[in-house]
Amino acid sequence: MGRRIVVLRRIPEPALDLLRAGGDDVWVSPHDRPLTTEELHEAAAGADAILSLLHDRVDGALLDAAGPQLQVVANVAVGYDNVDVAACTERGVRFTNTPGVLTEATADLAFSLILMTTRRLAEGERVIRRREPWTWNMFYLLGTSIQSKTLGVVGLGQIGAATARRAKAFGMGILYSSRREADPAVVTELGSRRVDFDELLETSDVVSLHCPLLPETHHLIDAGRLAQMRSDAYLINTTRGPVVDEAALAAALRDGVIAGAGLDVFEREPEVHPDLLGLDNVVLLPHLGSATIETRTAMGVLAAENALAVLSGQDPPTPVN
Ligand code: GLV
Repeated sequence: MGRRIVVLRRIPEPALDLLRAGGDDVWVSPHDRPLTTEELHEAAAGADAILSLLHDRVDGALLDAAGPQLQVVANVAVGYDNVDVAACTERGVRFTNTPGVLTEATADLAFSLILMTTRRLAEGERVIRRREPWTWNMFYLLGTSIQSKTLGVVGLGQIGAATARRAKAFGMGILYSSRREADPAVVTELGSRRVDFDELLETSDVVSLHCPLLPETHHLIDAGRLAQMRSDAYLINTTRGPVVDEAALAAALRDGVIAGAGLDVFEREPEVHPDLLGLDNVVLLPHLGSATIETRTAMGVLAAENALAVLSGQDPPTPVN
């Protein structure tokens, strides 16, 4: 006992209660912001376990600042582009993430963006809030129906499949592209078909990104890829901002290369490319994918369980390495 558990930003109380239950020394960042590199290193010193958030850079320098007693880094997120997993493995540090528990919330958000963009809902809401005059007429703020249209899912993992399930229930057909063949049971359930990335871009009415951010998916959607999409198509991004070249997207939206976009993530969060801000055909949300009380609590608790399992010599529930 008496181990030091470092939580780099406040997480829900049930997760903290779990961490504290064993009598360990639990340090929680008092700041309502990401820590600076210097603060991260200072906080990590002497840690046996670290709970990191998606904006915390976990690299060799942080692991070394923690010291050789460090056993586990538990990321409170499913995506882990913020973590150098190889650096963890080299130092014998277990690394875990939180898959599964945020699948439905994130798919709800992705599907909300599909409806918000195709039905121009944010535009309509802005009209009312700006107190602009409006009257019902047959042609006012017409959007596009999604029934019988095609959703192209880039990366048919858990969140991609959950988004596709919602789309299917709304009458959409599903195509997907991915590095590997997806789970055959999921493909059958969705009545989906794997196509190459070119075909997906060229034929989908809505393209929804669900691949992780990796060196090979950085700017996966750039000016060339946007030009391959149909001019009446929509792009949805709920994964990580750098998967899309934001400047190229802003230009494509401005020039009518594609019809619209829904973004929950940005290249340099919390900054948003200024060219996007003035465009009506893009919906911009501040990274809310997993932002429900239930989901954030489940993420915190799973990360705590992962950390505590490693500290007591067991296999963590959701290991990455
Ligand atoms: C959120 O963006 C996550 O990866 O969990």
